[in-house]
Amino acid sequence: MNFGGTLRLNKFACFTLAFILFLIIYWRSGGSNYPTDKSDLVNLKSLLKAAIYAAERGGKKVIDGKNHDLHVKSKGKTQEGANDPVTDADYASHCAMYYSLKNTFPKLSIVSEEHSKADSSCEHQELIDTDAMIPEHRVIDFMNDEHVFTKDVTIWIDPLDATQEYTESLYQYVTTMVCVAIRGVPIIGVIHYPFPPRTYWGWFTKKISSNIANVPHQEENKEHPKVVVSRSHPGKVAEIAKEAFGPMTTVTSAAGAGYKVMGVVNGTYDVYLHATAIKKWDLCAGDAIIKSVDGKLTTTKGDFIDYSSSENVKVTDGILVSRYDHDFYLKKMPKILSALP
Ligand SMILES: *[C@@H]1O[C@H](CO)[C@@H](O)[C@H](O)[C@H]1NC(C)=O
Repeated sequence: MNFGGTLRLNKFACFTLAFILFLIIYWRSGGSNYPTDKSDLVNLKSLLKAAIYAAERGGKKVIDGKNHDLHVKSKGKTQEGANDPVTDADYASHCAMYYSLKNTFPKLSIVSEEHSKADSSCEHQELIDTDAMIPEHRVIDFMNDEHVFTKDVTIWIDPLDATQEYTESLYQYVTTMVCVAIRGVPIIGVIHYPFPPRTYWGWFTKKISSNIANVPHQEENKEHPKVVVSRSHPGKVAEIAKEAFGPMTTVTSAAGAGYKVMGVVNGTYDVYLHATAIKKWDLCAGDAIIKSVDGKLTTTKGDFIDYSSSENVKVTDGILVSRYDHDFYLKKMPKILSALP
């Protein structure tokens, strides 16, 4: 009898079989994509807190800036011929927001409306303590951690939305915004108003900040929608809105994409309609917040916006935002927009 030999053979066969099985399972589960290093992952809960801190730090720079000479410069004209101003406060807020995030999360890709001027103090921003509790947003600490691949994340920041109005002392429209997009989808949005300071946020499929009111759906609003449009070109888009949604439509003009989206979120307006080109840093945070309350932000053709890359920052098909009845409003769009001059 040769038990030993059979046993050895079986052992070898078993080992080989197990190894092959392991390889198959590893391959099937996309094993090679697994992070080799903890820093390849980022915790979304920490990112939400960091986004709130960054937006609020930017807001403080915006408040400080108003007491100093703004040094208003022009970045040129927008496509529609409106002045596109930039102030020292835009840069100061950019430095605070961009570098406090970048220094805390060095591997993240961050897109900002502004670029820092050649000023070395810009990069010296304090790290954000993502373990510290934010008293007004305590609820975040009761949420679960959630990790995503760092490479899938794009952060969009707008250090000062409504700069034109800021230079005109129309401070109510001014916001600072931070947005976390994952594989191009806006997931976390933070909109901070410096005047007076308050912060709203939404984490899609999870939670919204407790200061965002519940707005009940009102079917009859479709008959007489309240529409908000851009203050810089109210004429044309007001006409489009009335033609699309009917003569009972009320059109209000306001500044700041952040401000207008928040007006839809809180039920002041049913629709935010934008007919000209707009940049993604103006939209991403509001997009995440409106999604978090089950609303929608799309182009006027009904497409969602892809926030994955900084290559293409401009959206040219117009914007339609609503908390309710998005498809109803969208259906009214195409024939009207194609009638545009
Ligand atoms: C709702 O949002 C609009 C626009 O952002 C703002 O003017 C208004 O004060 C807000 N109302 C409430 C109750 O928050």
